[in-house]
Amino acid sequence: MADEKDIVICRCEDVTLSKIRELIEKGYTTPDEIKRITRAGMGPCQGRTCRDLIIREIARITGKKIEEIPMTTFRPPIRPIKLGVLAESEDDE
Ligand code: FES
Repeated sequence: MADEKDIVICRCEDVTLSKIRELIEKGYTTPDEIKRITRAGMGPCQGRTCRDLIIREIARITGKKIEEIPMTTFRPPIRPIKLGVLAESEDDE
């Protein structure tokens, strides 16, 4: 069985389960607090992969229901565009 130190919860920001558990034990019991400290949820997927895992871990350790845990701020996906697209304008043609 895998050691919890090796279990990666946030693949985008390389945050492990042991780090998440350590922060919850210290009293950081909202996803936003954990996000600010670890950047978990701030990667390219914007938390789509890790957010629910973090919320479930907070619920498990604190004994709260998942519905009682405040959600993180959820931003729409941003797609990278080429700089040339921004530099182009209709006047240039
Ligand atoms: S897995 Fe955490 S931000 Fe993508």
